[in-house]
Amino acid sequence: MKERPIISEEALAEQRQYMASVRDAIGQTLKYHIVTLGCQMNAHDSETIAGMLEEMGFENAPTREDADLVLYNTCCVRENAENKALGNVIWLKELKAKKPSLIIAVGGCMMQEEGMSERLQKMYPFIDLVFGTHNTHRLPELLYRVIVEKERAFEVLKTDGSICEGLPIRRNSASQAYITIMYGCNNFCSYCIVPYVRGRERSRSMENILTEAQQLVDSGVQEIMLLGQNVNSYMGGGAHFAELLYRLDKMGVPRIRFMTSHPKDLSDELIACFGELPHLCKQLHLPVQAGNNRILECMNRRYTREHYLELVHKVRSVCPGIGLTSDIIVGFPGETYEEFEDTLSLVREVRYDAAFTFIYSPRPGTKAAVMPDSTPYEEKSRRIQMLIDLQNSITSDICSQQIGKTEHILVEGASTRDPGFVCGKTDRGHMVNFPGNIASGQMADVRIISAGKTTLRGELIK
Ligand code: SAH
Ligand code: SF4
Ligand code: F3S
Repeated sequence: MKERPIISEEALAEQRQYMASVRDAIGQTLKYHIVTLGCQMNAHDSETIAGMLEEMGFENAPTREDADLVLYNTCCVRENAENKALGNVIWLKELKAKKPSLIIAVGGCMMQEEGMSERLQKMYPFIDLVFGTHNTHRLPELLYRVIVEKERAFEVLKTDGSICEGLPIRRNSASQAYITIMYGCNNFCSYCIVPYVRGRERSRSMENILTEAQQLVDSGVQEIMLLGQNVNSYMGGGAHFAELLYRLDKMGVPRIRFMTSHPKDLSDELIACFGELPHLCKQLHLPVQAGNNRILECMNRRYTREHYLELVHKVRSVCPGIGLTSDIIVGFPGETYEEFEDTLSLVREVRYDAAFTFIYSPRPGTKAAVMPDSTPYEEKSRRIQMLIDLQNSITSDICSQQIGKTEHILVEGASTRDPGFVCGKTDRGHMVNFPGNIASGQMADVRIISAGKTTLRGELIK
């Protein structure tokens, strides 16, 4: 994989000009509300979208009802994500009937699907603006067309896109920050739509990433999460990613996490980082997807169960207390009950801290969507429930094993469940609630005193 060209300074200057023109044109302060669906990539894209909107003079509104501009950043990884987005957008029709000046914008992965933008343009006249994942930086111009030229603006680019540096970002947290290190995916797992809607892999330059990280550290950020669909192929190999981790670690970023790692590319250099880098958190999201070799092959995952278990063994020998998490798909086309049992046995063997489990959802245009699938949905639901029950019991066991330990916690804010409590994560990624009056972004030493099913409770030591 090559570094891709950065979107030219002239193209960006043009968008900056549009930002200024929109700001002048609206004259008053308008409010925006962004609804983000999908993964961390989308969450971070929404931070950039918010950054551009604020540059254009918009202010954040807490609810859709308070906003003059509502923007949906959509996901299409599973059908239910898509239905949710569509249902939500249709709901806005009523809001617009009450407030005709409301601007409705839809962007993100779902807009990159074949024919989707055209469909929305025809069927939903109340949508003002549509953009895709490859032209987020052109939002100012599109918004200018809507606000100043009073026309609908629908633009989705088919190209892979380049990399856009230097857009404003409005981060949701002052202490934890996302940095996207690469875009797109080349893996084409047979069930997955992401490569079609996010394009081919392209890496940001190490200098740009390090500069961004340094600015974040200088502004008091305590934890950086590096993002990419497969960070192990950053600039073409695990060694490059390991080098980036070394340089960030040296910079003194208090905590570094990353996601996601594809098992086929998890290099020895990267595994070694868990033993050597003091700031790299002891947590690894290593999605297995399935425990049976035939299914892994049909999924085009390009590793075997044995290879995966070997990786787990290696990672744990380098870093014994590491918390592993996973994504698992149940009911891939043609998966028999016996093959599903291999997933259960793998989960028993690995003992994940947590696993995100999904029923396979056919995605138009992917290879798996045309594979014969005779397992009824009820059977798939029964299987996923078995898997969830198993994982819940493992999660709860692992939580109990944390009792008595003293943990360094990065406080994220007030606990939503317990008044008077704050919450934050351990290095390994467990959420801990504890009483205290500590501001977000502060570190606290906490003794774990009890465990719930998925979270821990602690008491402050200092
Ligand atoms: N790049 C990441 C994950 C991207 S999508 C990786 O490779 O691990 C997040 C998760 O959604 C995937 O890990 C997979 O478990 C799930 N997923 C993707 N496509 C799906 C589909 N068609 N049906 C059900 N789950 C799916
Ligand atoms: Fe999808 Fe596979 Fe790429 Fe992950 S690695 S985004 S699951 S194609
Ligand atoms: Fe969804 Fe796009 Fe992420 S499809 S999971 S928001 S990359």
